[in-house]
Amino acid sequence: MLTPKMLQALNDQLQAEYHSSYLYLSMAARCADLNLPGFAHWFRVQVQEENVHALKFFDYILLRRGTVELKGIEKPTGSWPNALAVFEDALKHEQYITRRIHDLVKLAREANDPATEALLQWFVTEQVEEEAMVDGLVQQLKVMGESPSGLFIMDRELAKRQLGAQ
Ligand code: FEO
Repeated sequence: MLTPKMLQALNDQLQAEYHSSYLYLSMAARCADLNLPGFAHWFRVQVQEENVHALKFFDYILLRRGTVELKGIEKPTGSWPNALAVFEDALKHEQYITRRIHDLVKLAREANDPATEALLQWFVTEQVEEEAMVDGLVQQLKVMGESPSGLFIMDRELAKRQLGAQ
């Protein structure tokens, strides 16, 4: 049995993962506006990744016979002038999600709930990869500056991203 506090925290994280999905969908739209279809595609794949994360929490809550509570998803806000600003915000968001996951691990330990801790270990590793991936793209964009040819090449690269591949 999940403790009531653990159950609430897992339902909150389910909501946070869908909020991530929604935020990245807004970033995909902004990249499309910026005439960067490859960047937009990259975020579309990220949306799918976040949906997978959300469903992992959904399935786990049900597996532990907890009650899933679907909460409202906040409207994403952000007016990004360029691709660098979009990715810088994406990085900040991933760092926020990492902090949330680490707080959940602490809660699972306090609740003496090794099963939830085992689930969360997957997310701990995933967050290291997600942060590194987004940070890598931020650094690449910083090096390129405003170079249109650099952006064009990067856009073509990001267009190749597939679900499950970094
Ligand atoms: Fe679900 Fe991007 O962390």
